[in-house]
Amino acid sequence: MSNQEPLRFPADFLWGVASSAYQIEGAWNQDGRGESIWDRFAHTPGRVHRGDTGDRACDHYHRYEEDLDSIAKLGVGSYRFSIAWPRLFPSGSGPINPAGVEFYRRLIGGMRERGIVPMATLYHWDLPQALQDQGGWANRATAFRFAEFAAAAFELYGADVPFWCTLNEPAIVAWLGHVLGLKAPGTRRFWQILSVTHHLLLGHGLAVQLFRSIAPQTAPDLPRAAIGVVLNPQPVSPHTPRLPDIWAANTWAGLWNRLYLEPIFRGRYPADTLALLRGLGARLATKPYDMALIRQPLDFLGLNIYTRVVMGVSARGGMRAVLPPGPKTAMGWEIHPQCITDTLKLASEYTDIPLYIAENGAAFADTLDEAGQIHDTARVAYLRDHIADAQRATQQGINLKGYFLWSLLDNFEWEDGYDKRFGIIHVDFATLERTWKQSAHWYQGVVARNAVEG
Ligand code: FCB
Repeated sequence: MSNQEPLRFPADFLWGVASSAYQIEGAWNQDGRGESIWDRFAHTPGRVHRGDTGDRACDHYHRYEEDLDSIAKLGVGSYRFSIAWPRLFPSGSGPINPAGVEFYRRLIGGMRERGIVPMATLYHWDLPQALQDQGGWANRATAFRFAEFAAAAFELYGADVPFWCTLNEPAIVAWLGHVLGLKAPGTRRFWQILSVTHHLLLGHGLAVQLFRSIAPQTAPDLPRAAIGVVLNPQPVSPHTPRLPDIWAANTWAGLWNRLYLEPIFRGRYPADTLALLRGLGARLATKPYDMALIRQPLDFLGLNIYTRVVMGVSARGGMRAVLPPGPKTAMGWEIHPQCITDTLKLASEYTDIPLYIAENGAAFADTLDEAGQIHDTARVAYLRDHIADAQRATQQGINLKGYFLWSLLDNFEWEDGYDKRFGIIHVDFATLERTWKQSAHWYQGVVARNAVEG
């Protein structure tokens, strides 16, 4: 801790915490919820670390009141959560599940009672398995089913939810879910990279268009209804200033960043990336109006920011991520706080709409001391340095409007199961007991002061 002046945020800065449905809810087969691709994936032996599943997760489905109390106690203005598509539409489309509708009505109502502003994500990776059985995101029809689900959510909850995020990290869905097979649905079909990407983006565009035509009116005490998308572009640096490394960095930036930013904000795919992927066998079928549909005016852009990428070339001339020396999180991700400003600047090249850090946080191996307390000083240091960088960004004229910490609770970290803890609140997965870590107390102070120590 230093004696410097605290770094203050603008008065209207929105502080929040984030989570997603499959990672915390549990109750995977209760009250009419349908199967999602994450249920199927986690139930398949060998897919998730130690065979962990989200069957029970944090049991947030039954303990949401306690969790909302924690959010209120943290003092944050907003909670970013996601709506499980298979809870509303167990088979992806068709009849709506009243118990699912009711759950989110209670959850959102609980936020409103506590003065917490809801930010809802519509697709945080839990596609109904029934739609996967019809081809999933590789099937163009899925984009339309997604838009119908989104429209139902706008109609149901639009009065109480001012912030809507269509997709969470389409790049992860496409690359890790469909090419590398590390996340659900766990397929390795390189040739689908463009079609999956395109249908996700089409679903996004259609949902935004329906949002505009439904034009939900929020209650008078809430901000105006706004819609955006959550992306995860990463600042990419070449390992050395040598040409092959520069080539690798640019190529990677095309595959990971521009493939998503350019269609959404400029209505076209990056020509070099498209040519590269097609040359390698990826297929893409578009209709003439698709790109106009994808490029919808947005009200905000959410960014999930954790680290950066350094790219070099391997001995055989291919791209290779280089892990710089220095501290890492338990995920093995480099700790590089400047990734906040660098990512915000990168996004600002595409748009001047308000930006929100929709996720930032870190996994560390937490231990409980004899008194049952968790002194997660490494997480506090990570958060402090990244939030300080966000503050610097606000001073540099970047249109950053809020920060959502990932995550409220330790939770099901996808293919890593319960092994990686991102929460500022510890969860004992045997008893489901929640314990505030030092980082939660610390974040409460940041929010209260609207400033971080300099
Ligand atoms: C992001 C995901 C989120 C969580 C964090 C650690 O990619 O959106 O669900 O897993 O990473």
